Amino acid sequence: MKFTVKTGTPPDIATDCLVVPRGKAHTIAEKLGVEEQVLLALETTRNETGEVTKLALNGRPSRLLVVGKAQATSAADYRKDMAATAKALADLDVADATLCVGDFEVRDLGAYRKVRLALDAVSVASYRFDAYKSKKPKPRKLRRVGVVGINRVEARRATRDAQALLEGMELAKDLGNQPPNVCDPAFVAEAAQALAGDKVRVDVIDEAQMAELGMGAFLSVTQGTRKPAKLISVHYRGGAADAAPTVLIGKGITFDTGGTNMKGFAGMADMKFDMCGAASVLGVAKAVIAAELPINVVAMVAAAENMPGGAASRPSDIVTTMSGQTVEIQNTDAEGRLVLCDAMTYAERFTPRAVVDIATLTGAQVTALGHHASALYANDDALAAALSEAGERSADRMWRMPLWDEYQAQLKSNFADMKNIGGSAAGSITAACFLSRFAKAFPWAHLDIAGTAFGQGRSSGRPTPALFEYLLAVGANGG
Ligand code: BES
Ligand code: MN
Ligand code: ZN
Repeated sequence: MKFTVKTGTPPDIATDCLVVPRGKAHTIAEKLGVEEQVLLALETTRNETGEVTKLALNGRPSRLLVVGKAQATSAADYRKDMAATAKALADLDVADATLCVGDFEVRDLGAYRKVRLALDAVSVASYRFDAYKSKKPKPRKLRRVGVVGINRVEARRATRDAQALLEGMELAKDLGNQPPNVCDPAFVAEAAQALAGDKVRVDVIDEAQMAELGMGAFLSVTQGTRKPAKLISVHYRGGAADAAPTVLIGKGITFDTGGTNMKGFAGMADMKFDMCGAASVLGVAKAVIAAELPINVVAMVAAAENMPGGAASRPSDIVTTMSGQTVEIQNTDAEGRLVLCDAMTYAERFTPRAVVDIATLTGAQVTALGHHASALYANDDALAAALSEAGERSADRMWRMPLWDEYQAQLKSNFADMKNIGGSAAGSITAACFLSRFAKAFPWAHLDIAGTAFGQGRSSGRPTPALFEYLLAVGANGG
């Protein structure tokens, strides 16, 4: 899918399909010389928010889509209109469509955001993952979507960003949707290596190197599987040579059986998605590279498989983390924090301006917030605010949760510096408390995305949109 900025006004726009708001349908139909046909068609539909009337015309454009209500709309209604438009476009039998974005009257939305909302909706609707269907569904016809009627500078910027996010979302969703017999840590490392290029260097650390670095927590998670673990860093240098990087760290458990504390049947079914944090980190890296953002980013992935077996770790094992702190593993199913803590200590060498880890970390997060908001934790208020505003702008929301000292007491161990679980109360919070002990050297935020990263057996690509929005803002503020 290619997004472009077009020029001209109807009827002088070269396109197969024109998309116009209900309020302008009459005027545009007049210009196209199809007034009668359009009026007749609209007579029989009320055209509420989120409704699209599809008309077939003689000549070019051969399709006219009339969207939404006659009056100006709110941003929320515009979102619904664009989602419906995108759905209609995805199934259309034409290769090219043009959205008359400038004709949509939306209260409280600037030109840039109007274009982004429209094109981001097209991205969502056009995604498919059919790599493993022996009979492929008929390929989508739509190849190009243009926007018209918007200030060219804003439209260009919005189109570039939407195109970049489309590519990032495709990677994030594809990685998430891949089956775990294919998408193992080596596969994730290859996907990261495919990002290497001009301003991009990719480092992959193997288990021997992890042992040398003293990553006892990370290594305890991978000791039960035959799949070698990988610690991946994608270095993107688009900013000034001396600008501190933003470090993103994704949990990349390519399958989470729970280990010795094995999950039950119901709990294990979706655990191929336990690498969705990693997928979103690589996805947003791809978007940042495509958009050539003027910032420095290190996108890290802690990739491993959590399996039971003769070599697996046991509940009550004690390991030493790279930070020197010791951990009593009371539950081998709380493995995400064990790989992340060592990755976080490793990140100190990049002297980051901020570190954000992204993880399908706890079932408790799903209990607390359901599937609408990711849980946000931070040791820095400005970082928390910037992330949460980015989440609002991109409709990829997060909700801040407390990291109060009182909760830290639940991690007390009889024998080690801490244990890796905090009991049944406030499970998402105590997981974040565990991670906070490895975040003393930098501003840090943690996103628990267990409820938002996937649903109905499919990856959602979240929180790639929010992370991209956050990094766009970092760039706009000078890196
Ligand atoms: N990967 C799971 C968390 C998860 C659950 C993600 C549901 C997505 C949907 C994580 O590794 C895990 O097993 N967490 C345990 C922690 C517990 C043992 C303290 C959990 O949430 O039950
Ligand atoms: Mn687990
Ligand atoms: Zn897990």
